[in-house]
Amino acid sequence: MNKTNNDKKVLVIIGSPRRGNTYKFCEEFTRKLSEINSRIDFDFIHLKDYKIEMCRGCHACLLKGVEKCPVKDDVQLIFQKLKSADSFILASPGYNQHVPGIMKNFIDRMSFNCHEPALIGKNAVTVTTVGGMGAEAVSKYLTTIATCWGAHVSQKLVELIDYKNNLEKYRRKIVKVVEKTANSYNQDLVSEEKPKPNLYDLMIFASLREETRFSEHFRNIWIEKGWADSDYYYDEGINIFNRIIAKILGFIVRKEMTAVFKKSK
Ligand SMILES: Cc1cc2nc3c(=O)[nH]c(=O)nc-3n(C[C@H](O)[C@H](O)[C@H](O)COP(=O)(O)O)c2cc1C
Repeated sequence: MNKTNNDKKVLVIIGSPRRGNTYKFCEEFTRKLSEINSRIDFDFIHLKDYKIEMCRGCHACLLKGVEKCPVKDDVQLIFQKLKSADSFILASPGYNQHVPGIMKNFIDRMSFNCHEPALIGKNAVTVTTVGGMGAEAVSKYLTTIATCWGAHVSQKLVELIDYKNNLEKYRRKIVKVVEKTANSYNQDLVSEEKPKPNLYDLMIFASLREETRFSEHFRNIWIEKGWADSDYYYDEGINIFNRIIAKILGFIVRKEMTAVFKKSK
């Protein structure tokens, strides 16, 4: 069947070293979404099944672009899938109050995409499962990363696994949360409008904009794309209050970065 304008492609990236709780939770969420909208096509990526070498820390991708990365493996394949999807779900368990190494390394290898974000205009969902502690830190981290990649995190899902096994009441609550989140996400997916950037999106944008001062390569790209003097990648949907706060924050970040920049010269 050919893809029509109403069909949506969602990439689900799972950063666990096993097909465990996070996968099951994503399955539950995507099943619910399919019940609401049968025209969503899901592609599951289990990072553990892909060849993703460790980041070597050479900084080449940060200063000169991803073409200069010396490691050739499956990261570019996943990146292409991210770009061609309408939206994506970034899902991870919490290991010691953070994402597991497999997810962290993938994020490190995707660093180039923070300096020339390619996922602009896409809604994203973050999914976190933990035994019982650290969900907030992991969920916040995934949100920051998806935002740095250019996306707008429109929904967040969290499940505390130990509660799930012990408490039926908690499970009933989660079922409702999944249903509500699936309904809201479906609205995001079918909307003809670009996601409305929130204050956090604007703050991250302002920081990334100033960071380009450390790389002529990226600075030129930001100038070319018209981002170097703007409040966000696009102008639609920024409310006046957020725009004013973003300008003030942008001014503060610029001042601080100028000091760092002078010191580093
Ligand atoms: C190495 C390791 C570290 C973990 N650290 C935490 C932790 O700090 N806090 C917590 O609540 N749960 C922790 N857990 C439990 C997992 O977050 C939880 O079981 C999660 O749902 C596992 O998801 P997965 O099956 O998709 O890997 C840890 C599990 C492992 C294997």
